[in-house]
This record gives sequence, C-alpha cells and structure tokens, in this order.
Amino acid sequence: MITLGEFIIEKQQDFPEASGELSALLGAIRLAAKVVNREINKAGIADIIGATGVENIQGEVQQKMDLYANDKFKLALEARGEVCGIASEEEDDYVSFDSERGCNSKYVVLMDPLDGSSNIDVNVSVGTIFSIYKRVSPLGSPATLADFLQPGDQQVAAGYVIYGSSTMLVYTTGNGVHGFTLDPSLGVFYLSHENMTIPKNGVIYSINEGNYLKFPMGVKKYLKYCQEIDSATHRPYTSRYIGSLVSDFHRNLLKGGIYIYPSTASAPQGKLRLLYECNPMAFLMEQAGGLASDGERRILTISPTELHQRVPFFCGSENMVNDVQGMLSQFKD
Ligand code: AHG
Ligand code: MN
Ligand code: MN
Repeated sequence: MITLGEFIIEKQQDFPEASGELSALLGAIRLAAKVVNREINKAGIADIIGATGVENIQGEVQQKMDLYANDKFKLALEARGEVCGIASEEEDDYVSFDSERGCNSKYVVLMDPLDGSSNIDVNVSVGTIFSIYKRVSPLGSPATLADFLQPGDQQVAAGYVIYGSSTMLVYTTGNGVHGFTLDPSLGVFYLSHENMTIPKNGVIYSINEGNYLKFPMGVKKYLKYCQEIDSATHRPYTSRYIGSLVSDFHRNLLKGGIYIYPSTASAPQGKLRLLYECNPMAFLMEQAGGLASDGERRILTISPTELHQRVPFFCGSENMVNDVQGMLSQFKD
C-alpha cells in the first residue's frame, strides 16, 4: 500500500533538480482536501448546506460550502508558503501572498474549490479542481496577473478531488494520471489507480440536454448520432449527466465517454471556466490518452485574457471528440 505522500516523494526522486516545493504544495492540497471532505461528509447536520445569499463575480449564487472550501484551500496554500498567489472561482481577483515567503515562492495555483456545489444539498458527488503553474514574474516580488493568464500547456501539475461514494484525489504532473483513495478511518490517501487511461472509444455521452434547442447544429447532429441504433459502433450510446464536472469527468475517464458543455445561443462561450475548470481537466484528459477541445482548438493552446474566461468544452475519448469536432465543422449554423 503506497500512500500519496510516499508516491509524491518517490516520483520526485526521478528529478534530481527538484527542490521539493511542488511536493510540499501537493501536500497542502492533500491536507485541505481532507478538511473539506470531513465537512462535506456531515453536510446535513453541520448547517453547511444551502446558499449564502451572495453572488460571486460571475453572477452565480455562492453556496456556504463554496466559501468554506475556498477558505480552507487558500489557508492551506498560504500556510505552506510554496505559492506566491492563488486565483479561484470564488475570488473576484487573484490573491497574492505578499509575505517574504510568498514572494519567494515560484508557483501559483488556480482552483475551483467546490465544483458542482448545487449538488451538495441533495447528497450528490462534488469535487475540487486545481491547476498549478510556475510564475512568470520575477522571484522576490508579489504575483502578477500574467502569472495566472498562461496557456494550459504550461501547467506543471493539475488534478481534482472527488468527494463521492469514496473520496479520491487524482492528479498529473505530466507523467500519467494517478488516483488515490482516502481511507477515512486513517485519514490517508492510498494509491488505488496508477496510470489511469481512457478507452479510445467510449459509449457514454454527458451533456445538459435540456439546452438542446440552443445548441450549435454540429452538436445537435452529434447527439442524434449518439442515439441512432448501430450495433457495430455500440450505439445507441448511454446518456449520463450528474451536473458536477468532476463527477462526470471521473466516470468517463474510467469507463470511456465524452463530456460536452458547448456554446449555446444565450451563452456563446459556454459555461465552464477555462483557467480552473477546463485547463486542468484537459491536461488530465490528454495525459490519460484522451482529447479536450473547444470544438476546434486544443484547450491547452488557448492564450487566456481574463481570469474568469469561459470556453466551450468537449472532453473525453479520442474518437468521440474527433467525431463531434467533425460534425461541428461539417454543420455550421
Ligand atoms: P460550479 O459548481 O463550480 O459552479 O460548477 C458547476 C458546473 C459544472 O460542475 C457542471 O458540469 C456544470 O456547471 C453544470 O451546469 P448545468 O447546470 O448548466 O448543466
Ligand atoms: Mn465548477
Ligand atoms: Mn465551484
């Protein structure tokens, strides 16, 4: 039984130049994940469910758990002193850690502290998503916006925590995707899924089909293709949509499938955020052998211009993403 801590240290030994800072940073995320996990597990009795009555900068109602998770991850990351700043779905602007230790740290973290938070109230799986970059501003100074607005292919590490029927932490540093399951009685994450890979062909499609009439023509055609009967390609495919990106992604990663949040007539850039939802998931997906695109381009090559920028998202098994991209280019509105 290998623990997450042991695994990180073992992998660090492959890089003689590694200073241990990234390992310590992942350690901070591991700690915050355990704290948030504990709270989520008693959500119904801890007066932690429901809305705060406040909206975030994106006009979304903040849930109590959104703010709790944001605080815990922010505190853990600042306390460990391995990052010069963070950006979060729940913070209007990036937060720079201006202590001497913070200014001398070389990493930034971007995060969705609680993904799928509206599912908390109904006891459905939620998650945390994180993305780690090396800063581009000089060491010894406060973090700058440019540190956060880097294309996804510059990520040093990315991952998610899924608070599900069991709690898992899944991450990549660019050498495959590895999953760890929390033993809640010991508070220890154990390696349970080494080198996770997604099947090239999947049979699951995940999309909020309620928005069907607002979808681009190519997406409508693809959905009809998914529903046609053809035994050679195992169609009709199965429709599964939880409404927590982390949970939908995790299932599709294990079983093969595609997650789609396209542009819609009312939201031309889609709903999901590039920096702390799509980029980390795209990095994981590519590391697992799948694809992630905005319908035309690789997600990881997009140069961001805003912290809370949105992007259409097509992510999953290679052949499924290629199929939908083909239909998007063939059928223009
Ligand atoms: P968050 O809870 O962080 O705001 O994210 C919710 C996201 C994502 O997790 C999910 O896949 C998607 O919103 C669901 O959106 P719809 O309700 O529009 O389907
Ligand atoms: Mn989210
Ligand atoms: Mn969120």
